[in-house]
Amino acid sequence: RRLTRRVRKPDYADHLAGISELERQDKTNHNSIRIYTSEELDGDYGLRHACQMGREVLDLAGQALRPGVTTDEIDRIVHEACMERDCYPSPLNYYNFPKSVCTSVNEVICHGIPDYREIQDGDIVNVDVTTYNLGGYHGDLNETFCVGNVDADGRRVVQTAFESLAAALAIVKPGTLYRDLGTAIEKVAKANKCSVVRNICGHGIGTLFHTIPTIPHYHKNKAKGTMKAGHVFTVEPMINLGTAGDVTWDDNWTVVTTDGKRSAQFEHTVLVTETGCEILTARNNEPVMVWNADLVNR
Ligand code: MF3
Ligand code: CO
Ligand code: CO
Repeated sequence: RRLTRRVRKPDYADHLAGISELERQDKTNHNSIRIYTSEELDGDYGLRHACQMGREVLDLAGQALRPGVTTDEIDRIVHEACMERDCYPSPLNYYNFPKSVCTSVNEVICHGIPDYREIQDGDIVNVDVTTYNLGGYHGDLNETFCVGNVDADGRRVVQTAFESLAAALAIVKPGTLYRDLGTAIEKVAKANKCSVVRNICGHGIGTLFHTIPTIPHYHKNKAKGTMKAGHVFTVEPMINLGTAGDVTWDDNWTVVTTDGKRSAQFEHTVLVTETGCEILTARNNEPVMVWNADLVNR
């Protein structure tokens, strides 16, 4: 093992408030959605590589989940797995986020901060990994894992989140309106008596962590834009067992359900191709989402 690692830091990594000047500038310029070239995608440290590094890191984190393990331990595993791969863990200091990964347990919808709490038998645990590689590209994905004996409602919300993302990705192709993804997602949620979180959206990604398009996950949203080959974005529906309401703790990060019922999420980074969609963060280049046995009964 090499003792020193090369890591490229994104611009916010050393900013006192974790602000990304590049994201700020991007917001003020009313740009159109970036189209990534095959060189940018397929280069040695291209966007595809960043996404595959994220996939490897998430798989390692998922394999470490079991009762008694703290989310801080998951954070350590993610941080070290990123370093091993010459990647920066994108969450670290992003708008002062204090850790290298988001871990969101049970009623936590997203942006949970790893801490000393031990995972318990029956928890549903979302791990959201983003990696920034030497080429300067981010890859973003998450999964919700069932630890031990999860009850029927817990398994239902996890499965519904998975199926809702799969349904959204199934309509990704040139010409599809970004606003139609929410319709596909909410249809699956409703069929399973679940609700869709409204205040957190999918996003364009690549050289920036978060950029246009903004992609709401609910029906009848007003998202702008039409998909074109070369667009790269995330879809990351958060699905609740109870009402859709969310509230953020005064740590300014942790988003929880207002009714305390559980929430689950899955996320992929995808590329619009001439014929459809390529899941850049897929495991083993799977062309469609495949249910992973590791997601249950760990
Ligand atoms: N990975 C999250 C997303 O899917 C963003 C986390 S921002 C952080 O967009 F600062 F909380 F890490
Ligand atoms: Co994301
Ligand atoms: Co993410």
